[in-house]
Amino acid sequence: MELKQAILLKLKESQDYLSGQEICRDLGVSRTAVWKAVKRLKEEGYEIEAVTNKGYRLEGSSLDILNQEELEAAFRTAWAGHPLVWKKETGSTNEDIFRLSDQGAEEGTLAVTACQKAGRGRRGRTWISPPDVNVYMSILLKPAMPAQRAPMVTLVMALAVYEAALELAQEPEGSCRFGIKWPNDIVASRNGGPYKKVCGILTEMRMEETEIRDIVIGTGLNVNQETFPEEIRETASSFMLQTGRKIGRAAFTASIWKHFEGAYAKFLQAGSLAPLREAYEAGLVNKGRQVRVLDPAAPFSGTAKGITDLGDLVVSPEDNGPDRTVYSGEVSVRGVNGYV
Ligand code: BTN
Repeated sequence: MELKQAILLKLKESQDYLSGQEICRDLGVSRTAVWKAVKRLKEEGYEIEAVTNKGYRLEGSSLDILNQEELEAAFRTAWAGHPLVWKKETGSTNEDIFRLSDQGAEEGTLAVTACQKAGRGRRGRTWISPPDVNVYMSILLKPAMPAQRAPMVTLVMALAVYEAALELAQEPEGSCRFGIKWPNDIVASRNGGPYKKVCGILTEMRMEETEIRDIVIGTGLNVNQETFPEEIRETASSFMLQTGRKIGRAAFTASIWKHFEGAYAKFLQAGSLAPLREAYEAGLVNKGRQVRVLDPAAPFSGTAKGITDLGDLVVSPEDNGPDRTVYSGEVSVRGVNGYV
C-alpha cells in the first residue's frame, strides 16, 4: 500500500489526533515522508488538521471524498466496477463507456465522475451534473440475450439503487421513504411530503445487425446536492436533503453495485424480471395510484397495478376496460396529482 493510503487509513481509524511520531513508528518512515504524504492528501481534497504537539486529524468533511482510491477501497463486487475508470470531471460517462467499449473494454467496466459537462438525460434532456456533491456513473454490459429484453436492465438498475438507498442511515430515524417511479426513477419523500426524484437512469444500447453489441447503463445520483434550480425544485431533490444526513458517496456507490450484481445474476438466469418482480413492486410508488399514460397516439388514465415479468406497467384503465400493459421504451407515465 502506498504511504499516502496507509496514513489515510490510520487517520480514518483514529478517533482523535494521531501524532506524527506514532505514524512514523508504525509505518517505519521519516517525519518528512509523513509530512509530504499529508501534503499530497490535502491537495487531493482531504481536510487534515495539523496541530503542534498533538498531530494530525481527519476532518468530518473528508468522509465524503470521491476518488479512485476511495472507490476501490469501498468496492466488494466480483465484476461490476472492475476496472473502475475514475475522472474528476468529464463530458458524459455514457459517452466515456461507449468510447472505452470501442477500444475493447470488458464487461463490468465502470466510469465514475463527480462532474459532467454534457450529462444526458432521458428523452434528449440534459442531466444537470454539478461538481463534487453527486455521483455520475455508467457501466458496460454485453449480455448474450435478444435485444428486446435489454430495456429490462434499466429496471434491474433501479432496483439496485432502491435497495442500496433503503440501507442509508436517516435523521431522525425513518423520516424518509424511498420508492421507484416506474420504470427507473428513484424517488424519496421526507416527513410524508411529496416524492421527489433523487436518481435518474439512462440506458443506451448499440446493435450489430440483430445482436446486442453493448449496453451502457448511466446512473445519475443526486447525493449531497443542497440546492436545485428553480425549474426542477418541486420535483427533484437529493439523498442528503431527503434523509437529513450527508452520505459517503464512495460507500453508497459500492453498495449499489453489490446489489446490482445480485439482481443482475437472477435476471440473467431467468431471462426476465420474474425473480425480481416482488422486490421491485415493494418499492413501486405508482402501485395503486392514479396515473396518466402519455401515449402520444392515445393517452389514457387509470390505476397502476404492478409490472409484468418483462417490466411493463400494468394499468387498469378508468373506463373500466381490460387491463393494459405499458411498454417502458415507448411512453412515459405521470401521476395524476403531481410527479408520482
Ligand atoms: C433521466 O433523465 O432520468 C436519466 C438521467 C441519467 C443521467 C446519468 S448521469 C451518468 C450518465 N451519463 C450521462 O450523460 N447520463 C447518465
